[in-house]
Amino acid sequence: MCGIVGYVGGQSAAPILLDGLKKLEYRGYDSAGIAALHDGTITLRKVTGRIANLCALTEDGKTVPGTVGIGHTRWATHGAPTDQNAHPHTSNDGRFAVVHNGIIENHLQLRDELQKKGYHFESETDTEVIVHLLEHYYRGDLKTAVLKVTARLQGSYALGILCADAPDQLLAVREASPLLIGVGIGSNYFASDVTALVAHTRNIISLEDGELAILTADDVSVFDCAGRPVQKSISRITWDVQAAEKGGYAHFMLKEMMEQPAAVEATLSPRIRNDAVCLDEITLSDETIRSFRKIVITACGSAYYAGCAGRYAIEHLCRVPVQVELASELRYNNPMIDGETLLIVLSQSGETADTIAALKECKQRGASVLAVVNVVGSTIARLADDVLYTWAGPEIAVATTKGYTTQLAVLYLFALYAAHVRGTIDEPTYAKLVRTLRSAPSGMQQALDLNPKIPKLAKKYHRSPSIFFIGRNTDYAVALEGALKMKEISYLHAEAYAAGELKHGTIALIHDGQPVIALCCNPAIAAKTMSNIIEVKARGAEVLAVAVRGTQEIASVADDLIFIPRMEPLFAAIVEIVPLQLLAYHVAKENGCDIDKPKNLAKSVTVE
Ligand code: F6R
Repeated sequence: MCGIVGYVGGQSAAPILLDGLKKLEYRGYDSAGIAALHDGTITLRKVTGRIANLCALTEDGKTVPGTVGIGHTRWATHGAPTDQNAHPHTSNDGRFAVVHNGIIENHLQLRDELQKKGYHFESETDTEVIVHLLEHYYRGDLKTAVLKVTARLQGSYALGILCADAPDQLLAVREASPLLIGVGIGSNYFASDVTALVAHTRNIISLEDGELAILTADDVSVFDCAGRPVQKSISRITWDVQAAEKGGYAHFMLKEMMEQPAAVEATLSPRIRNDAVCLDEITLSDETIRSFRKIVITACGSAYYAGCAGRYAIEHLCRVPVQVELASELRYNNPMIDGETLLIVLSQSGETADTIAALKECKQRGASVLAVVNVVGSTIARLADDVLYTWAGPEIAVATTKGYTTQLAVLYLFALYAAHVRGTIDEPTYAKLVRTLRSAPSGMQQALDLNPKIPKLAKKYHRSPSIFFIGRNTDYAVALEGALKMKEISYLHAEAYAAGELKHGTIALIHDGQPVIALCCNPAIAAKTMSNIIEVKARGAEVLAVAVRGTQEIASVADDLIFIPRMEPLFAAIVEIVPLQLLAYHVAKENGCDIDKPKNLAKSVTVE
């Protein structure tokens, strides 16, 4: 949801800003802009569309002079994606430029107040109030003015600020939106995430909510919201530059799908020793784990669907009720959460605004919070009592793949660990299931090896106006994620249904040629799903079944078949989702869609 970058140093800022914006483009891509300061004048360039348009407009930055500057790539919230609404926004006197990620909730009130004072607005954005407030409060000291401005703002913001009176300075400030400072030698940077920094420096300072940083070429000083200096520690990024590049693949999504076995391996292997799960990194005591009366999993989108799949493993193995809640709903439900509840928060980015809000709400009610997060040091990781990181590496494609499967891997690990601690699993079953889980990367690799067969299926289905995904139990959880993948990147209408529910209404939509993807990867209940396949076949549906090897009887009822390796049904989702990701990818490719940057979407949803 918007990406911001800033640079101050000895080189020309614009090319560095453009490069950083390219790395952040996945966060929003409807318009972009940069501003740089040279000889007391701010040069501003902004344009609708992708960063490529901005590169063309600025001749790759050559026409924007200055060694200090800020940049923005936008995912529109307030006001359409137009040149005027693109950031940076500048003050009426031209002395300030601002980039913003987040939402200013009281912007209408502030706009009204500023208009009455004579400030002229050029855009429909919430952001523009910030730059006019700056001009209003500025009396020669930028830091003081910024603190006065932030005291007036309600909502979320990561701000980058440029001031013509402070030619060698950049200001960065955050409240509930991600912002990192990159510490270089003779140059300093800020960015919404590490992908834009890693080419320049591995030394990072994470700003906390309410903190403000002043960057010059040789120094970074951080202050709290009262303007008092704060000592910050520098952490090292472990991701390398290549991890954030396509590395010869046509799309990041394809690369990231192919990386899944390695990512799951990296997530599992440090936590499995001698057929036992070791979660040394969490502080939850055995006694606390035994005391939980309920587990609530909360997340958004695919992370929520990972929770839906993980729930079966936790409930089955730990014999504790698990509720899976959409983060955007949980906070409004007056949730029944107390000190005997474990809250598991799933988030690849660690910055999803609804998930953060749900976490805060539940923490306030006394829940212990365990976060499953991919981005080290992200907001959710910092707010939680404990973190289990998914070691997926950077995920750039907007549609998550390795983020989702590594979340599943952690949920399965936790299910086994907690079951062992709670004494709800016997030793031989425990050791056997740990070994089974350990084999997940190899099962996933075999599923990925099916890739050459998928384009033919994609050609068959890509023109269908809609596709149904059906399954029972864990298969149903996978159907939900499979349908989301199809919708978001190929723009086909896709609907997931619990297979047994079809006959309660939805079967009315089945007609000649209607594609139905039937998931039957749990042999114990495959016969029931097969009955549902027969029911839709009788009404003309074309059925593609996904089943585990050895369940040949499916062949007699389905039109097309994908066999995946046999896997313990509780953990099968991690392998079963792979052909559905591949199918969504190839359908989107057939339809000529922008796979890594689907329309209307952005990665890291930092607005509620
Ligand atoms: C779908 C997708 C989204 C995210 C959701 C949560 O492919 O990527 O549905 O899963 O926005 O994001 P995180 O996991 O970053 O909290």
